[in-house]
Amino acid sequence: MLKVGMIVGSTRPNRFADTPVQWLVEGAQARSDLRLTVLDLRDNPLPFFNEPAPPSYAGGVYTEPKAEAWRKRIGEFDAFVATVAEYNHGPTAVLKNAFDSAFVEWQRKPIAFVGYGGVGAARAIETLRGVVIELQMAPIRQEVNIAMEPYLGIVQQGRSLNDYEYLVQSRGAMFDHLVWWGEALKAARQRTSESGAAV
Ligand SMILES: Cc1cc2nc3c(=O)[nH]c(=O)nc-3n(C[C@H](O)[C@H](O)[C@H](O)COP(=O)(O)O)c2cc1C
Repeated sequence: MLKVGMIVGSTRPNRFADTPVQWLVEGAQARSDLRLTVLDLRDNPLPFFNEPAPPSYAGGVYTEPKAEAWRKRIGEFDAFVATVAEYNHGPTAVLKNAFDSAFVEWQRKPIAFVGYGGVGAARAIETLRGVVIELQMAPIRQEVNIAMEPYLGIVQQGRSLNDYEYLVQSRGAMFDHLVWWGEALKAARQRTSESGAAV
């Protein structure tokens, strides 16, 4: 069973994030091929990156104890999902900071994105795809975009994400592909470490 960490990418009071988080937890519980753990940035408050050296020069070690704890937590997972809010056409600062606050622990692992907002956070997700490629991750093509209509349907009319069948299908496809890549890369990482090659 693949160990998947789900990073909750916004922290403000009244955040919408809790709605997709709960829905993703429910979707994951119905599956036997992955175990989803919520990594809430509220519970893992990270200082803004302020290291004296780039992580790539420092061997991925941080001087900041909270970043050290975060990167060790990230190292426990084989794949990731991130909930993505779009702030001013980009990702939230807390989520970008969370990516900057670990290094080797991200490498050679897949990540999937679940965005919401006017255009389902498509612009923020595109930005994050470049970020995670630089971290040597494999971003999954299948994403979930909760755009204006379902977003307002939920916030203003009390609807649920399950009322939107295309979103339920997107969630399933996203998990399917995340598990495929997660298992493939996990096996490849194990082969590499057995042969003694550098990761
Ligand atoms: C600072 C800020 C900037 C925002 N900018 C955008 C934006 O560029 N595009 C968009 O679709 N929604 C934007 N929104 C609206 C968010 O999509 C909406 O508030 C969403 O619920 C934010 O996620 P959160 O509730 O998890 O924080 C913005 C919201 C905030 C707070």
